[in-house]
Amino acid sequence: MTNDQSNAMWGGRFAAGPDAIMEAINASISFDQRLAAQDIAGSRAHAAMLAATGILSDTDSQAIREGLLTVLSEIEGGRFAFSTALEDIHMNVEARLKEVIGEPAGRLHTARSRNDQVATDFRLWVRDQIDAALAGLEALIRALLAQAEAGADWVMPGFTHLQTAQPVTWGHHMMAYVEMFARDMGRFADARARMNECPLGAAALAGTSFPIDRQMTAAALGFDRPMANSLDAVSDRDFALEFLGAASICAMHLSRFAEELVIWSSAQFRFVVLSDRFSTGSSIMPQKKNPDAAELIRAKIGRIMGANVALMMVMKGLPLAYSKDMQEDKEQVFDAADNLMLALAAMEGMVRDMTANRPALEAAAASGFSTATDLADWLVRALGLPFREAHHVTGTLVALAERKGCDLPELTLSDMQGVHPGIRAEVFDVLGVHNSVASRVSYGGTAPDQVRAQVARWKERLG
Ligand code: ARG
Repeated sequence: MTNDQSNAMWGGRFAAGPDAIMEAINASISFDQRLAAQDIAGSRAHAAMLAATGILSDTDSQAIREGLLTVLSEIEGGRFAFSTALEDIHMNVEARLKEVIGEPAGRLHTARSRNDQVATDFRLWVRDQIDAALAGLEALIRALLAQAEAGADWVMPGFTHLQTAQPVTWGHHMMAYVEMFARDMGRFADARARMNECPLGAAALAGTSFPIDRQMTAAALGFDRPMANSLDAVSDRDFALEFLGAASICAMHLSRFAEELVIWSSAQFRFVVLSDRFSTGSSIMPQKKNPDAAELIRAKIGRIMGANVALMMVMKGLPLAYSKDMQEDKEQVFDAADNLMLALAAMEGMVRDMTANRPALEAAAASGFSTATDLADWLVRALGLPFREAHHVTGTLVALAERKGCDLPELTLSDMQGVHPGIRAEVFDVLGVHNSVASRVSYGGTAPDQVRAQVARWKERLG
């Protein structure tokens, strides 16, 4: 018999209930109620297995599984009263099950523990988030492909050090992000494959003496196999850390792109116009159209990487197997996942809606001596100069243009021949930005044909 004040789930040896502060620090129900669907799926698989192995009667198992569906519909319908005294989602569900079906509810916890239960629930939850991240990334990639296809031959400045370097194509720039986000997909997919093993049946830490069938529960929950070591199964959260690692890298990519959109949409650059749907106004400056979504995406890395660091710190130095420290895993992962999905969706919307300002891109592409490398390459190809000498001649021509206040194509032939007598009029062909990008035909280069080939390759891969 348990004391009225003590916990009905583990109150056997307790004479008194917890201090209010103990309850406050101990309870996780305020956040782990997000695991309700996974918890109930895990319990239903466990109950079915207990019957199949003869540990539980079919009648009890049936009652438990149906009762759990009732509890699930109460939770999903917002008709469930979560109790802090019942600590966490596992005990809230079980206590309600008892009210719904009575005595058989007490048999559900045979051959398992909250330790393998929470590890299973959380894996299932993270797995769902990985699938959501994969879908969000794929949608973003499709939006980028549409931009790249439309602008495969639009020229813009390519930068190094945020200084004009060489002309590139709009499509090429978009496709750079396709590559990054595709690698992010690869990281999430790798993490998913590695984490897709089932902890259920590890029980508290040592396994169980009941003749359970772990293959059966693993398969029922969509896992590839049961985890092979019960201590490991209840005590590692590396799968959540891998998710956060992949999420952090993805958030870093999103942040870089967001920063470019902030710069590009400024009055000084005017490379893109963001849609009204993804911009905000200022309450005082009527002319303002602010790239708030891009700024917020730029910032999301803060909390996502923060979650990664926080969970790593929680796990560091924990002795095997389960410790309550691990309850601190969830909020960080929930917050990181929510914000990653939001950032991906916002970025996809912005990319879909944004309009490149082609004239501004082209004008910027042609300024800042962006074809100086083309000129140097021409000196090598046409005049047989060593590249180092060609570099020097070109540098002298750039300095001359700077003194004259013009760009390279505006120098006269005699200006050029004053620096190197061998230069011929055909040099002006390579100084045009369209010729410049068209000439970059090396694999992975910025030439429109290369960009179109990459767009086609990705479209085929995505189907
Ligand atoms: N709420 C707990 C958690 O999130 C569930 C596991 C509790 N296990 C225990 N032995 N107290 O980690």
